[in-house]
Amino acid sequence: MFLGFLSLPAAAQEDLDISSGDSTHGEKLFLQYCRGCHGKDGRGGAQTFMPHVDTLTKKGYIELVPNDYLFLVISDGGRAVGKSAYMPAWGEKLSDEEIVDIISHIRSLPLY
Ligand code: HEC
Repeated sequence: MFLGFLSLPAAAQEDLDISSGDSTHGEKLFLQYCRGCHGKDGRGGAQTFMPHVDTLTKKGYIELVPNDYLFLVISDGGRAVGKSAYMPAWGEKLSDEEIVDIISHIRSLPLY
């Protein structure tokens, strides 16, 4: 649970600025690297993957997590935030800028 992972109240933190992110490029990267597990629209349910991958579009959750959290889990993998180690670390493969682009894309997905 992300609240346990954050030691400071979210409001006291300077969150990562993603205003330079290119969500169109982020979407391309997402479809290339992330779709296999998260589904093309981030809603999980990719056919082949077990265990179940939760949706990235859950209203009341994803819009509340800071960009810092998304950056950390994408860069360092699920284990870095106490989630499944089946979530790979992408920090070697993707540049910081590409991760910011992907975060912009995740932020643009419709919530359910
Ligand atoms: C091999 C399968 C796999 C791939 C590929 C993958 N993920 Fe994940 N991802 C997971 C799993 C499993 C979790 C943990 C889900 C959970 O615990 O609810 C996760 C969790 C996450 C989370 C945290 C979600 C939350 O509920 O807090 C984010 C953000 C995320 N992934 C983004 C990405 C991005 C961006 C990519 C592509 C660069 C990607 N993932 C590729 C399997 C994958």
